Amino acid sequence: MSNDMDELKSQVAELQDKLETAEKKLEQNYYFSDAAVSDPYVFTVPENGMPAKIVKTQIENNHELDFNNKLNTSSYVNVSFEEEEDEIALMGLRVNLADQTVYPQSYKMHDSVVNMIANLWHCPKPDDFDEYDVFAGAGTVGSTEACLLAGLALKFRWRRWYAKRNGLNEDAVMGERPNLVISSCYQAAWEKLFKYMDVEPRLIYPSSSNFKIQADQVSSLVDDHTIGVVCIMGNHYGGQYDPVHDVDSIVETINRERDFQVGIHVDAASGGFIAPFQDDLSPWDFRLPNVLSISASGHKYGESVCGTGWVVWRERKDLSEHVAISVTYLGGKADSYTLNFSRPASGVYVQYYKLLRYGISGYRQVCDNMMSNAQHIRAALSQMTVNGQPRFIILDDGPRDCLPVVTAMLNPECNFTYDDIDLQHVLSQQHWYVSGYKMGINDPITEEYRALFSDQDKDKTMFRIVVKNNLTRNMANHLVDSFEAAFELLDAVDFSAIHGTDASSLRHKDQKRLTNHC
Ligand SMILES: Cc1ncc(COP(=O)(O)O)c(C=O)c1O
Repeated sequence: MSNDMDELKSQVAELQDKLETAEKKLEQNYYFSDAAVSDPYVFTVPENGMPAKIVKTQIENNHELDFNNKLNTSSYVNVSFEEEEDEIALMGLRVNLADQTVYPQSYKMHDSVVNMIANLWHCPKPDDFDEYDVFAGAGTVGSTEACLLAGLALKFRWRRWYAKRNGLNEDAVMGERPNLVISSCYQAAWEKLFKYMDVEPRLIYPSSSNFKIQADQVSSLVDDHTIGVVCIMGNHYGGQYDPVHDVDSIVETINRERDFQVGIHVDAASGGFIAPFQDDLSPWDFRLPNVLSISASGHKYGESVCGTGWVVWRERKDLSEHVAISVTYLGGKADSYTLNFSRPASGVYVQYYKLLRYGISGYRQVCDNMMSNAQHIRAALSQMTVNGQPRFIILDDGPRDCLPVVTAMLNPECNFTYDDIDLQHVLSQQHWYVSGYKMGINDPITEEYRALFSDQDKDKTMFRIVVKNNLTRNMANHLVDSFEAAFELLDAVDFSAIHGTDASSLRHKDQKRLTNHC
């Protein structure tokens, strides 16, 4: 009996030993553990937890399969950070910005950033500034939330005005559908406003020769249901600026002649931290009297971390007050403007850091560098020829008064058998992600696929290269060389077979819309 017991004990000890060894192995190295041949956890939470190293490796392995973010010229989002920024971003992850009473100092930094940005955009001090010590504005999760808040404020402002003008009560005015005038080059953020907030889009289709709305096109689209006109300061397709200055004059005339109160929202998602450093521009910001609000992505050329955005209103009265929730803040008065509630302070911390770290001269230098590198790439592409013809038609507004973006299309006169989307795929062999896309949009209401421009077929293609601070001259040269290398392959292959009718309709279904890249 005792022999059996001893035998059993020694077997248990042996098993425990094996288990410990296996666990140790597992903890030390993913590749000689079972993890390397087990299914990834995509459907169910595993019954038992795993060693930290294993989980981390699994995440890293997935991350490796993405494109390299530093070579992603499709996205405007900042990807380069100093060590100190990484540290403060991590610190901010533990601070819930919504808890203003627990984290008052963090919230003060938020307000400081709002003030710095409002001043950068020449916002006049609202009458009630001293009550709040901060301009009417908010940190948001990117430009999308900022655009939604600005659009909502315009909508509620219009409702009040329309009800008064027509002697309607609150219920009756709710039944009226307002509209917003904007370029068809809008980003998906506005599609959300149209759909979620029930606002009719009144679209202006620009020409592909400049991608901009013409101020005189605004007049016929504005009526007594118009909540505002959006000017995009740097459309994401080509980086051109809508002419805010001219639109401001037209809006002034409309309001005077028709007794309206239409205002302008400037969607400066990318241009908000570029235009202030371009001295030749005519005023585009709060210096123009009809500009009621401006939004920007802190995480694009503001150089903060992904998930940072800003909106500033000219004043609270009949504007931001429509979307404000009052909160107590150490006994003082404070507004909360966000669509969501809890969120980390990382974006605010890094934005605050960046504004102090760069200063005006730093942002100016970075802006000049990026514009110069964009011009370097633009010039190199312009010089590429085939059979004496330029390979590309340059579509952007460079080299000045636009975003540091190079947008072009393959020259149709060259009769290439490939298009700009094939070019994207071949360039990716050199590790670069350069977005090629069709010149079409899904109608935000009918979902019908239609032309983006007034003068180009919806199935024509183009591509863009977003130049960010990390795309240095050396890398720009590599990118240009990669184009040359891509053409060696593209010119040697006949793509006509895959661009037949069936193939192109298949591609259309499959094709991502550029509105998904930001
Ligand atoms: C003009 C414009 N508006 C809004 C957005 C949405 O920005 P975010 O990704 O910061 O929400 C973008 C993104 O590219 C944009 O270019």
